[in-house]
Amino acid sequence: NSSPKHIFISNRLPFSVDENKELKRGSGGLVSALLGVSLDEPFTWMGFETSEFQADLFKKDASSVQKNLLIEPVLIDKKLYDCYYDEFCNDVLWPLFHYESQQTFFKQEAWDAYVLANKLMANAILKTAKDNDNIWIHDFHFFLLPKMLKDINPRLKIGVFLHTPFPSAEIFRQLPVREELLGSVILADLIGFHEHSYLRHFTVSMKAHLGIDSSFFKARIGNHILHLGVYPISIDSIGLKAKAESPKVVAQTKEYYNTINSEYLILGVDRLDYSKGLKLKLKGFKRLLRKYPELIGRVNLLQVAIPTRIKVPSYIHLKNEIDKLVGEINGEFGRPDYNPVSYIYNSVSEVELLALYRRSQAMLITSKRDGMNLVSMEYCISQNMENPGSLILSEFAGAASLFGSALIINPWNEDSIADNIYQSFIMEKEEKIQRMEGIQNILTKYSASMWARNFLKDLEGTHEGVVKGQ
Ligand code: UDP
Ligand code: G6P
Repeated sequence: NSSPKHIFISNRLPFSVDENKELKRGSGGLVSALLGVSLDEPFTWMGFETSEFQADLFKKDASSVQKNLLIEPVLIDKKLYDCYYDEFCNDVLWPLFHYESQQTFFKQEAWDAYVLANKLMANAILKTAKDNDNIWIHDFHFFLLPKMLKDINPRLKIGVFLHTPFPSAEIFRQLPVREELLGSVILADLIGFHEHSYLRHFTVSMKAHLGIDSSFFKARIGNHILHLGVYPISIDSIGLKAKAESPKVVAQTKEYYNTINSEYLILGVDRLDYSKGLKLKLKGFKRLLRKYPELIGRVNLLQVAIPTRIKVPSYIHLKNEIDKLVGEINGEFGRPDYNPVSYIYNSVSEVELLALYRRSQAMLITSKRDGMNLVSMEYCISQNMENPGSLILSEFAGAASLFGSALIINPWNEDSIADNIYQSFIMEKEEKIQRMEGIQNILTKYSASMWARNFLKDLEGTHEGVVKGQ
């Protein structure tokens, strides 16, 4: 009777393969957060992969990524994967959960693919898992797993963590398969959210569509007890701070000071996703240059837009719009020696990213909706505290509820963006240090590993009736 295993399930494994067939880190917050988790005991991470060659590569290289981590790729047919991932996860669930109902396109065959993909993953888990193992399902790609797993083995402990917002019940009710999704996910033992509001929205939907009452942290469904909790995610703060201060990053930062000609550099780092409010960011920046013309020639915006979900039409459309807006701003305010917006449509290496965090004077985040937003955390923990930058953060990102000392903006209000950038521009160094210290203190006290341990401890507790909740 060996002790229970932890099995993490996510759609994306922590790697992807670049054009040169070399491994690189997979993008996005889920991968960053889970890679920041270190546990004392071994754990397995299962996710989809469409190529056998890559699956073998991933398995081999897992141990170099993280101590105690075993990667188990689950092979899936490419056509099925594309239909499940592009056409259901990213064309239905993602937009709806980010309040973009006009970008939500439900198709029966995409739903069928979602069901099939979940079944495939369920079968793989059932082969690997033993009674009492802790199965931790990450995100919206696998809402059907709890039912599929519990139907076969009710003794598995099943946790679900949602890395995105859970939308208001008025939005969720638009989903044609709302009962199917909710009816499965409530069979988990524990569901975790970043924020109280997401949990509240979930309980309202549960009551509206399944007639299930809940106290805030618990619901009884026949003999089954569902626990609900708030577990804001974090990053590997200590590890990242050390990397940001490493000689490599310090040298790269110095190089950027030499090569990036800007008195006041505002940085943006986002996947090129409509939820990140990139259009609002560019409009706010334009407003800044109009409202405070003395900043023309002195302030620059450097936007790193990481390619993502590139086959989904709404993302293709967004890219064209951003290309156009960047061109318009540079056309209107540019001079032979001044290019207001630099725009990179690519991912950057970790060293480049950390050096950009340190080279810039402010980080601008204008998400329209964002489960948490890890970039804001990474930026703050990387700052050189002798001369830190400012965090300008959308009130619609989960992180805004944690970081009271950031400059909080309403990204829908161009003046709110412009005025807060201006405020950061004229802010005294002492105030910047004080604000940044407030955020760093939170981050150093609460790491990604603590987030994972809290969740897993509560998941274990569900079978002993000792969940603390939060
Ligand atoms: N990131 C990345 N590739 C890059 C630059 C950044 O994967 O070229 C990472 C970044 O470090 C962060 C994550 O992408 O950890 C973005 O997470 P966030 O929570 O901000 O947003 P998400 O993309 O998950 O919606
Ligand atoms: C968000 C989602 C994650 C996802 C990430 C990157 O953080 O919550 O589940 O992995 O974006 O998106 P992608 O579709 O490339 O995995």
